[in-house]
Amino acid sequence: MSADLVTIGVVGAGTMGAGIAQLALEAGHEVLLNDVDEAAIERGRAKIRDGLARRAAKLDLDADTIDDWVEGRYDRLRDGHSLDAVGAEADVVIEAALEDLELKRTVFRALDAAAAPGAILATNTSALSIAAIADVTARPERVLGLHFFNPAPVMRLVEVVSGPATSPSVAARAAVLVASWGREPVACVDSPGFIVNRINRPFTLEALAALERGGAGVEAIDAGVRAAGYPMGPFELMDLVGIDVNLAAARGVWEGFGRTERFRPSPTQERLVEEGRLGRKSGHGFYRYGDGIRGSVDVGVPDAPGTTAPDATSRRSPARIAAWVITGYVTLFLAFDSITHLVREQHAVDFNNKIGAPGWFPVVCGAVLAVCLVAYHVPRTRVLGAVLLTSYLGGATAVNLVTGQPAVNTAFAIVTGILVWAGLWPRDERARRLL
Ligand SMILES: NC(=O)c1ccc[n+]([C@@H]2O[C@H](COP(=O)([O-])OP(=O)(O)OC[C@H]3O[C@@H](n4cnc5c(N)ncnc54)[C@H](O)[C@@H]3O)[C@@H](O)[C@H]2O)c1
Repeated sequence: MSADLVTIGVVGAGTMGAGIAQLALEAGHEVLLNDVDEAAIERGRAKIRDGLARRAAKLDLDADTIDDWVEGRYDRLRDGHSLDAVGAEADVVIEAALEDLELKRTVFRALDAAAAPGAILATNTSALSIAAIADVTARPERVLGLHFFNPAPVMRLVEVVSGPATSPSVAARAAVLVASWGREPVACVDSPGFIVNRINRPFTLEALAALERGGAGVEAIDAGVRAAGYPMGPFELMDLVGIDVNLAAARGVWEGFGRTERFRPSPTQERLVEEGRLGRKSGHGFYRYGDGIRGSVDVGVPDAPGTTAPDATSRRSPARIAAWVITGYVTLFLAFDSITHLVREQHAVDFNNKIGAPGWFPVVCGAVLAVCLVAYHVPRTRVLGAVLLTSYLGGATAVNLVTGQPAVNTAFAIVTGILVWAGLWPRDERARRLL
């Protein structure tokens, strides 16, 4: 297998997949790009074309040939419609889907079933065990880690990670391949976090600990670290990598080292991910971003234990505002409804009679609604709260319609339902998945 003839499959068209595909295209390979999300492929394609154009502008090409260079390479990018199609056609597959062991094992099982015996299957995992991924295939000797760094077209390092079963010749071929893409392969063994992510953990954790204990703010820490000669501060780096991706890697290293205290993931990162503050890609992490440009620092790290940093932003988060608006609105509505019932006592009795409910039924409904609201207020259970509130409102609307209650009750349920989800959309990752 010669490095310049192989067809490359890339699974996952996100930040890393698009960057890796771009590198392979630059080197002249045919590339098959696969993702479970059609929109991610479209975004990935746009990013790749843009990246190729930027790369072409840096080459010593005359104006007439720049477009040919870009289009010639971009034309070699094809959609890999399924894992079977990618496995069947690619000589080397690089998986860059989410950092989740079970998901990666599922992907590798499918690729292994479809791929030719000589194909190499690589994962871009940041911290998961190569052995645990290779384990589900019938070719563990042809499975390895190719850990590109972000942004892949810019960062030269690629960790070439050999699992316990990886054949040295396969690792050597993979190293030759990425070297032909202008990368710098560094061989390493399958241990949690490999080299760079392992060393990066204490750096990131100490920065978070300093922030959580009020030692310094986000900007001060980043500025200090940059002035000390690092190209980026820890918070800028987490925003670039993706706080969710960084947290997944943190969990991988922590699990890999037997949950040792020194690698325990930071609660601040966990809460930011829950709030949908994922960094640059969501427009909001430790900093706010507009058009991908870093804007003001957002010191509102949500109430991590011992945090002394001001909590202004999390108080202003759409979900929190929505939670209070809904609570106020529901309380006012119920107060109004109760007064109406008191004034026209017969109305409540009529309603209970109609649905065959006992007298205490409205009290139980109120209590259930209160539980739903409390769940919605707590960041950890906010999505569950939204689902419970929606179910409650749906049920109440159905009962209202059947019993011919005033239209205002239905309107109340619909408006509340919209507020519930508007507060979460588009920031909460779990809510996005549910919708
Ligand atoms: N972001 C970084 O800085 C960085 C650096 C090095 C390595 N990594 C690793 O690269 C991998 C991808 O990270 P990313 O930042 O590109 O994530 P991302 O969230 O930007 O992209 C992941 C993509 O995978 C897709 N996907 C999910 N399940 C899939 C499946 N079953 N089949 C195909 N596609 C699927 C998603 O739709 C998404 O488009 C992770 O393992 C991560 O740890 C990330």
